Amino acid sequence: MRGLPGKIALVTGGLGDLGYASIVRLVEEGCVVASFDLKADDEEKLSALGVFHQTVNIADESAVKAACAAIQQKLGSVAILVNCAARFIFRGVEATPAEWTDILSVNIIGTTLVTQNIVPQMKTAGGGSIINFSSVSGFVGQANFSTYNATKFALRGLTKCWAQDLAPANIRVNTVCPGYIYTSAFTDSCKKLGLDIDEEDRRASAMHLLGRQGRPPEIGAAVAFLASDDASFMTGSDLVVDGGYLAK
Ligand SMILES: NC(=O)c1ccc[n+]([C@@H]2O[C@H](COP(=O)([O-])OP(=O)(O)OC[C@H]3O[C@@H](n4cnc5c(N)ncnc54)[C@H](O)[C@@H]3O)[C@@H](O)[C@H]2O)c1
Repeated sequence: MRGLPGKIALVTGGLGDLGYASIVRLVEEGCVVASFDLKADDEEKLSALGVFHQTVNIADESAVKAACAAIQQKLGSVAILVNCAARFIFRGVEATPAEWTDILSVNIIGTTLVTQNIVPQMKTAGGGSIINFSSVSGFVGQANFSTYNATKFALRGLTKCWAQDLAPANIRVNTVCPGYIYTSAFTDSCKKLGLDIDEEDRRASAMHLLGRQGRPPEIGAAVAFLASDDASFMTGSDLVVDGGYLAK
C-alpha cells in the first residue's frame, strides 16, 4: 500500500488479537511501530517484530503523556494512530454507575487521551491518519450489550467530529468496524461460560452473509488501507469489515 514505508505508527491494545494483527500488517508494509497495552505478558511477540512496546493504562492521563513523549524521543513523530484498546463490559439497562465509569474511562476517555497527546506529533509529521476501532455494535442494538455498544456508537461520533477538527492539519480520522472475529477473546469467553466453541462458532458464523467469522489479518488489512495514501480521500468515514453482518 502506498505511503506506509518508514511511517511511525502507534497501536493501542497491541497485545490483543486485533491490535497485534494490525501491527503485523503495518510492520509488513514497512512502518516503524510502537504499542501500548495494559498487559505485559507475551511482550516478546512484539519485540520479535521490532515494536517499541510500553505497558500503559490508556485511562491514566500522566502515564499516556509520558509514554507518547517516549515514542517521539525514541522513534520520532507518530503519523498513524490505531486506537484499538478497549474494555469489554456487556451490561443492559441494569448497568451500574461504576460499570459505566469503567468502560467510558477506557473506550472513550482513554482513546481521547492518547489521541490528544499524539495529534501534536502528527502536526510535526505534516499530517496523519487516525483509525478508531468501532464495531458492528456501533450500528445496531444488541440485547444486554448497552454499555459496550454505547461506546462503539460514540467512537463513530467522535470520529466524525475529530475529522472536522483535524482536516485543516491534514489528519484523516476514520473507523474500522469489524463483524464477529474469531479471536482468543471469543474462545476464552466460550470457555468461561462453559459453551462449546464449535457450536458457538457455528452460531456466530450464521449471523454473517459469508457464513463465517472474520479472521484477525482481515482487520489488519483494513487498518493498513486506512493508514495508507490509498485512502487519501477518506475521512470521517466508517470502514465496515463484517462479512455482510449489517446487510442481513
Ligand atoms: N474481536 C471482535 O470480534 C471484535 C469485533 C468488533 C470490534 N472489535 C474491537 O476491536 C478492538 C480489539 O478487540 P480484540 O478482539 O483484539 O480484543 P482483545 O481483548 O484481544 O484486545 C484488547 C486489548 O486492549 C487492552 N486494553 C484494555 N484496557 C486497556 C487499557 N486501559 N489500557 C491499555 N490497554 C488496554 C487489553 O489488554 C487487550 O490486549 C476493540 O476495540 C473491540 O471493541 C472486536
